[in-house]
Amino acid sequence: MSVVALGVPSVHRQASDPAPPCPTEGPLIDTFGRVATDLRVSLTDLCNLRCTYCMPAEGLDWMPGEQKLHADELIRLLRLAVTRLGITNVRFTGGEPLVVPHLEDVVRATAQLRPRPEITLTTNGVGLAARAEALAHAGLSRINVSLDTVDPARFKAITRRDRLDDVLAGLRAARAAGLDPVKVNAVLDPVTGLEDAVALLGFCLDEGLQLRIIEQMPLDAGHSWQRDRALSADVVLAALRAHFTLTEDPAPRGSAPAQLWQVHRGGQVAGRVGIIASVSQAFCAACDRSRLTADGQVRNCLFAREETDLRALLRTGADDDALEAAWRSAMWAKAAGHGINDPDFIQPDRPMSAIGG
Ligand code: 5AD
Ligand code: SF4
Repeated sequence: MSVVALGVPSVHRQASDPAPPCPTEGPLIDTFGRVATDLRVSLTDLCNLRCTYCMPAEGLDWMPGEQKLHADELIRLLRLAVTRLGITNVRFTGGEPLVVPHLEDVVRATAQLRPRPEITLTTNGVGLAARAEALAHAGLSRINVSLDTVDPARFKAITRRDRLDDVLAGLRAARAAGLDPVKVNAVLDPVTGLEDAVALLGFCLDEGLQLRIIEQMPLDAGHSWQRDRALSADVVLAALRAHFTLTEDPAPRGSAPAQLWQVHRGGQVAGRVGIIASVSQAFCAACDRSRLTADGQVRNCLFAREETDLRALLRTGADDDALEAAWRSAMWAKAAGHGINDPDFIQPDRPMSAIGG
């Protein structure tokens, strides 16, 4: 099935047609008519956990410090993205963005841009308890905390670190700091995941958190992802339905990747759960994302096999017009879909931790 058929608002062309020239102004558009308004910025590839589905126990060959964008370089690119390219949402990710000491400064500088973008963070929650307040104060609006189980032994087995209590404290601190909603992102373990999902949903309902379960994608450093080992959205939904009454959320989905379900308890809607079927029901046709890695490369897709080197341009004195043009042509070249389900799919060289989720 072609993902182009899945409802791009204004499809300009089929993948086989020749590409027209890239526009020099207006929104950040690709040849299929999709407009990128959501920028994912990876601040570092470093992480203080070692999730088994992400990286090996010994970690990875981390990016050398001089290759990473300095705060002033990053802020220059963010200003350009917001003022010239129509980016309205900026999400900071990693690796683990909380290991970056200047995160609050970057959030504050981003909040000063006009029109002011919405600023969000994806974190594993370790170290969040001490920083949630300062981050909210700096201008962060919302937060997603990755948590795959609420069972301490399984948390330790999945992340190879005994830090569940830190994450739980981080979630409480995020709520207390007024970040709203606080979302919990879960990637389920193939063996224990269905049990974990039921317990996570109960926990999130009790704590006023919004759970989102994400299908595992082929982005692990070891390239060992196997389709038949990952739990698919329909299997997860069936497992939740054995314990909870779920009805489709009536709110329009737009370009949001999560299909939202209302969870009923005692005759009332007690909360919502989102299921993100990134593999089994790709939402590429509605994708509104552009990505910037910690070393200053624009990626037009998680699964892109090519990158555009803005850092090299920045460090050789390029002006804003040149940076803008490079970013526009990077996005213009975005493929119709991630191709995970195609027979000739090739996993990108960069692992998730160096791209940003
Ligand atoms: N597939 C899907 N999600 C992943 N994450 C990390 N690796 C994968 C993968 N292969 C998630 C983390 C976190 C977010 C940054 O990305 O669990 O929620
Ligand atoms: Fe760190 Fe996220 Fe990878 Fe886990 S999945 S090791 S938290 S980057």
